[in-house]
Amino acid sequence: MAYERKEISIEKIREQEAVCAEIRKLICVGEKPPLAMVDTYGCQQNEADSEKIRGYLAEMGCGFTQDEFEADIIVVNTCAVREHAEMRVLGNVGQLNHSKKAKPNQIVAVCGCMVQQEHMAEKIKRSYPVVDLVFGPHDLWHFPELLLRVLTKKKRVYATERCDGYVIEGMPQRRDGTVKAWLSIMYGCNNFCTYCIVPYVRGRERSRLPEEIVAEARELVAAGYKDITLLGQNVNSYGKDLDCEVDFADLIEMINEIEGEFLIRFMTSHPKDATEKLFKTMARCEKCAHQLHLPVQSGNNRVLDAMNRNYTAEKYLKKVEIARSYMPDLVITTDIIVGFPGETDEEFEDTVKLCDTVRYDAMFTFIYSKRVGTPAAKMPDAATREQKQVRFDKLLSAANKVSAEKHAEYEGKTVRVLVDGTTGKEEYNLSSRTNGGRLVHLHGDESLIGKFIDVKISSSNTWALYGEPVKE
Ligand code: SAH
Ligand code: SF4
Ligand code: F3S
Repeated sequence: MAYERKEISIEKIREQEAVCAEIRKLICVGEKPPLAMVDTYGCQQNEADSEKIRGYLAEMGCGFTQDEFEADIIVVNTCAVREHAEMRVLGNVGQLNHSKKAKPNQIVAVCGCMVQQEHMAEKIKRSYPVVDLVFGPHDLWHFPELLLRVLTKKKRVYATERCDGYVIEGMPQRRDGTVKAWLSIMYGCNNFCTYCIVPYVRGRERSRLPEEIVAEARELVAAGYKDITLLGQNVNSYGKDLDCEVDFADLIEMINEIEGEFLIRFMTSHPKDATEKLFKTMARCEKCAHQLHLPVQSGNNRVLDAMNRNYTAEKYLKKVEIARSYMPDLVITTDIIVGFPGETDEEFEDTVKLCDTVRYDAMFTFIYSKRVGTPAAKMPDAATREQKQVRFDKLLSAANKVSAEKHAEYEGKTVRVLVDGTTGKEEYNLSSRTNGGRLVHLHGDESLIGKFIDVKISSSNTWALYGEPVKE
């Protein structure tokens, strides 16, 4: 697939920052700063994009709120991966009528994957007059200019450029946390799994340069972040579009060399491109977490082929075996789609079998959702919603049972965790993660946040572990 790498120059981003200064003069007129609310749906990629939107908003002089009735500017960053995600967005955008009635100058922007689909942008235009600004993922970089147009021209603005996407450096960012950080290493997807909308709304695969990524990782470590998650729809194809020789495993190795105590995680790995070199590198690099999210989607070869996943159940299982041979303590999680068009009960049973064999630490299961414009949307689909629900429930209870059993194995053991925040509960007031990414609730002083400590696990359930810090 011919793809011409297009970059947005740093000068263009500086121009957008100048527009932020102009907007600041327009909106920072009262005693208090104007307030912005950014509401994010979807995956970590969207979370990372929202941090950039907040970066621009902060440069415009905005403070932040979670209350739509308080907000002067609302940005809803949307997801299109399943119908349910879109319905939630539309429901919540519709509700903004109330806050806008109370605050007529309120500006409502809807951005992200959902509106990059033409029919959805149209729907917003037609049926949601509350929305002032619509922009897709390829137009995020010039959000300030779009917002200025809304503010000065007092009319609705739409920007959903049809393109393969850009590589953009130097956008301001306002990160959500102080312990964990997202680091995008690439954008877009070339895989065109037949059920999936992502390649249509996020454009082609394009990698950031390794030196840019390493520099950002270095900044994060210097700023005190302890848990860095490298993001991409398929991190295993990192670098394939670049002229340099660096692949994903090499990139991990380069980040691992940065001095300091921190963890490297990543998502998502496509099984077809996960290599033995990657597993070897993960095992060797002491900062790389022994955690692998390896979505299998189905355990049946006909279904996998119809999904265009480019591996068989046997090949997938072999990769899991190799990964575990290098890292016996590896935590493995997966995504599964139940009820792909044409999936029979027998074919579904192959998925159950595969899950029994792998014994995932956790599984994310979804009922197939038809996406307009994808090949699977045209495939015959005989199974009823009820049949799919029965399959889904069966898989979910099997998955929950295995997760609970795996978690029970931690009981009585002492594990190293990174304390990452508070829970708001009294008994177990802190949350933390093991090296493999399992959630551990514990009781302790808030000064432990951001520290690696040893915890003795006392109890567990399907979703989490519970423990006490070990006195040093
Ligand atoms: N790039 C990642 C996944 C991104 S989408 C990967 O390839 O693994 C996250 C998950 O949503 C997918 O793994 C899949 O299980 C699920 N998903 C994607 N499209 C879907 C659809 N049309 N219906 C139901 N689930 C879907
Ligand atoms: Fe979607 Fe497949 Fe790309 Fe993942 S790899 S984003 S499931 S097309
Ligand atoms: Fe959703 Fe877009 Fe992510 S469709 S899952 S927010 S890439």
